[in-house]
Amino acid sequence: MTGILLCGALGKMGRAVCAKAAESDGFTVVAGIDIASAKDVDFPVYADFGMIPEKVLKKIDVVIDFSNPALFDSLLKFLLKNKKPAVIATTGLSEEQIVKLKSAAYEIPVFFSANMSLGVNLVCELSRRAAKALGGDFDIEILEMHHNQKVDAPSGTALMIADSISSALETKPVYEYDRHSKREKRTKNEIGIQSIRGGNITGEHQVIFAGNDEIITISHSARSKTLFASGALNAAKMITGKENGLYTMKELIDG
Ligand SMILES: NC(=O)c1ccc[n+]([C@@H]2O[C@H](COP(=O)([O-])OP(=O)(O)OC[C@H]3O[C@@H](n4cnc5c(N)ncnc54)[C@H](O)[C@@H]3O)[C@@H](O)[C@H]2O)c1
Repeated sequence: MTGILLCGALGKMGRAVCAKAAESDGFTVVAGIDIASAKDVDFPVYADFGMIPEKVLKKIDVVIDFSNPALFDSLLKFLLKNKKPAVIATTGLSEEQIVKLKSAAYEIPVFFSANMSLGVNLVCELSRRAAKALGGDFDIEILEMHHNQKVDAPSGTALMIADSISSALETKPVYEYDRHSKREKRTKNEIGIQSIRGGNITGEHQVIFAGNDEIITISHSARSKTLFASGALNAAKMITGKENGLYTMKELIDG
């Protein structure tokens, strides 16, 4: 049985991971980290890592993080001190935090993806190929929609798709998040990224390649949070016991 320390255990994704782990016969959530409190979970939830007792610490094989960038620095300290592998799924990390995470991967196995869905990762690959084929002739725009509780914008997934497109273009594009502040035409060398927030939308992404005579749209619609929870557990399974390094959906998909 693989023991999980679940960061953000009482949030929407934390609860989805708990439900998925309970269905599995290979995982058990041994403890959670969360600033919120709740009585309806069957494992201890600590407000910070320093509160985890030694006997619980020993049962932790892997850490899964669906919390908030505010937890990241103490999480990283905990991981490095205790040499625990980690699946980092929290989005909205700063560039500095991502650099720190990448260098931590020299000391522990780290799985990092802003989107744990196989389908979204396929959208990244299809968008990269489309950008390569269409060259600089098409204007590229990304539209993403999420529920009204999401705090970061644009979504980590929209940025992941944009980075994937960027890797196929000869000139590195500028990401344009705010047309409102400018009164000028869009330039060729940009990817517009727009965010919509409302209701309980799980996650919609559209990548639009707009030419003069045709428009190509690649889209993904997440219908439940379960797909991200399953992806995180698959990632946890893959990195537990693996050598140090940075793992992504590519390694998970390629097996
Ligand atoms: N990688 C993916 O596939 C994927 C998919 C869905 C969500 N996410 C990301 O996962 C994160 C959580 O999403 P959610 O929908 O469950 O959000 P949520 O707000 O429902 O849950 C977040 C939980 O983290 C806790 N938390 C917040 N700050 C904390 C801190 N400083 N210390 C400890 N606990 C803290 C909150 O109390 C809450 O219980 C977000 O960053 C979201 O974008 C990633």
